[in-house]
Amino acid sequence: MERTYLMIKPDGVQRGLIGDIVSRFERKGFTLIASKLMVVTREQAEKHYAEHHGRPYYDDLMSFITSAPVFAMVWEGDQVIALSRIMMGKTNTLEAQPGTIRGDYAVHTNRNLIHGSDSPENAVREIGIFFEPHELLGYTKTIQKWI
Ligand code: TYD
Ligand code: MG
Repeated sequence: MERTYLMIKPDGVQRGLIGDIVSRFERKGFTLIASKLMVVTREQAEKHYAEHHGRPYYDDLMSFITSAPVFAMVWEGDQVIALSRIMMGKTNTLEAQPGTIRGDYAVHTNRNLIHGSDSPENAVREIGIFFEPHELLGYTKTIQKWI
């Protein structure tokens, strides 16, 4: 059973897409174990996007992600890291297929609605940036046997 960090970025919150996006992961069969509306601090943003430091889009990314509330989430499920990346769609909006979140709603690569961890190591790292351990509510669904 894996956990991943998913974050609806400021554009997704402001466009009223929280419900749609959460619903996709719920209907897929994953379990939401933590969530909160929050404003990302500069320090959190720098840690979260450390590997992008120095890239041409970095400054825009920093100011965008800290500009307004995001909806931060931790989801649990089998292969949730790789499967949620598929559900999100490709980073480049020209490559994001219809049926994916970015393919359905995003027009620009730098305003692509959602973040998702790309590896187990980054999932642990990113969950730790945005959540305290006591905020993660691991639980068993009685419906789990069906999916
Ligand atoms: P990246 O980790 O490559 O993509 P993903 O979000 O799919 O894991 O990049 C992080 C974010 O940086 C990306 O969601 C949007 C922004 N970004 C740009 O604005 N332009 C770019 O060319 C790239 C590669 C990323
Ligand atoms: Mg990434």
